[in-house]
Amino acid sequence: MGTLELSRTVRGSTVLITGAASGMGRAAAAVFAADGANVAVTDWNAEGAAEVAEAIVRSGGHARAWWLDVADAGAIERVVADVAQAFRGLDIVINNAGVAQFLALDDPSYDAQWVRVLDILLTAPQRVVRAALPHLRRSRAGRVINIASTEALAA
Ligand SMILES: NC(=O)c1ccc[n+]([C@@H]2O[C@H](COP(=O)([O-])OP(=O)(O)OC[C@H]3O[C@@H](n4cnc5c(N)ncnc54)[C@H](O)[C@@H]3O)[C@@H](O)[C@H]2O)c1
Repeated sequence: MGTLELSRTVRGSTVLITGAASGMGRAAAAVFAADGANVAVTDWNAEGAAEVAEAIVRSGGHARAWWLDVADAGAIERVVADVAQAFRGLDIVINNAGVAQFLALDDPSYDAQWVRVLDILLTAPQRVVRAALPHLRRSRAGRVINIASTEALAA
């Protein structure tokens, strides 16, 4: 990553946001687009991601939607590469995709859900960062933003 550059704008930067079809990811997409960033709106909800990107484009911003299930390591590699190619670089990644899963300890699917939730919440962020690393290093001001929960502190 380049030398720290303090700037008040993300104009012209490219940001990839996971889980951007709703909630905080969607809100972040709108804020970054309003400030002139190219926004890669990614989510496993392809329809929702497309709607967010279309709304940004309709309001004059730059955005494109990608289907991305962050539990799919191959898809992370493909989408990050595709985003960097489409926008000629990648400057910021926001690991926002997340799920809240509540199950009884004796639920037969508990073990499978445990693995899937760890994939989404714990494994995916480092995979996204490692896939993006070559592009972030080329960026003048690469940034990684990881969204977590205060529940982590409680645990
Ligand atoms: N809202 C809260 O109170 C709260 C509290 C603590 C942490 N968080 C975390 O903040 C982040 C955003 O939360 P939110 O409240 O905006 O939730 P949200 O449910 O509105 O948004 C999460 C988005 O992630 C997407 N997503 C889920 N699994 C995915 C996957 N495997 N691949 C790609 N996309 C996936 C969903 O489709 C959805 O669009 C999450 O990581 C969540 O765990 C939220």
